[in-house]
Amino acid sequence: MTDTSPEDIVTIYAVTGAGGHLGSLVVQELLARGVPAGDVVAVARTPQKAEDLSGRGVQVRRGDYTDPASLRAAFDGVDRLLLVSGDAVGQRFAQHANVVDAARESGVSAIAYTSLTRADTSPLALAPEHRRTEELLAGSGLPYTVLRNNWYLENYTDRAAEYLARGEILSATGTGRIGAAARRDLAGAAAVVLTTDGHDGRTYELAGPPLTLTELAATLSEVSGRQVAHRAVPAAELVAALTAAGLDEATAGFVAAMDEAIAGGALDIESSDLADLLGRAPTPVADVLRAAL
Ligand SMILES: NC(=O)c1ccc[n+]([C@@H]2O[C@H](COP(=O)([O-])OP(=O)(O)OC[C@H]3O[C@@H](n4cnc5c(N)ncnc54)[C@H](OP(=O)(O)O)[C@@H]3O)[C@@H](O)[C@H]2O)c1
Repeated sequence: MTDTSPEDIVTIYAVTGAGGHLGSLVVQELLARGVPAGDVVAVARTPQKAEDLSGRGVQVRRGDYTDPASLRAAFDGVDRLLLVSGDAVGQRFAQHANVVDAARESGVSAIAYTSLTRADTSPLALAPEHRRTEELLAGSGLPYTVLRNNWYLENYTDRAAEYLARGEILSATGTGRIGAAARRDLAGAAAVVLTTDGHDGRTYELAGPPLTLTELAATLSEVSGRQVAHRAVPAAELVAALTAAGLDEATAGFVAAMDEAIAGGALDIESSDLADLLGRAPTPVADVLRAAL
């Protein structure tokens, strides 16, 4: 019989949604933190989208939130799992439940989940599915950690060229502040939670310093050297502008309702959780804008 020294114990990490933006960044952050590529499983519905990760030695496995057998196979041998929330709004709770069930059946020892700012009380229409998933995790018997991600800064910075072309950011967010953070920072925090102890049962509010879209417009003006203003309009006016630009009525209404909730403070949160996990300040918005431009 051979002794197993602590160094011999291998932890296998898995990240779902690894073909997407956030999941892929979490895998990259795990590697950056020194996790051997062979100990990381990138679970993707579309494995071709994770080809760059398999090129780095990461195990890429197919896992579809609607296909429990694929999830059980993908989680084989996995110890610590990050469930990246799905994008099929309205069907996500059932999908997440499939992931949690498969994790339990596969013997996963800890699970982290990417939720939403104040999911338990948020007025955002996106919140109920996150809240229910958090409740499911709490009752799952699995050690779990909730990562309540605020908005990605990239939701706005990816549109920098469009804002510059128009000379304005049009929204119904009023003077509402948004604790947006760079995706890579949120991914880094997730990697820290996966690879370090002390997070079981914790809920982290992951946010950057809250800013208004007026402040974002000012920073964009500064970084680009061109004038961009924030034009805050009532929700009905935003719906009219978006539908005139070709968006369907339902989507325009959804966007405007989110903006209204933001105007009311839905994403305005002061929390040091992101900085504490990263061990540094979140990336400044000016840097994310510079990278986008
Ligand atoms: N905080 C924010 O501002 C914000 C903004 C947008 C979304 N989100 C949430 O955060 C998540 C990650 O964001 P992201 O930027 O990485 O989004 P993304 O790039 O669109 O990636 C979403 C990933 O989810 C995967 N997925 C969707 N349905 C699936 C299913 N049935 N089974 C397995 N995988 C499935 C997609 O797989 P495929 O590659 O096969 O399509 C995709 O890789 C989103 O899914 C959404 O829940 C947050």
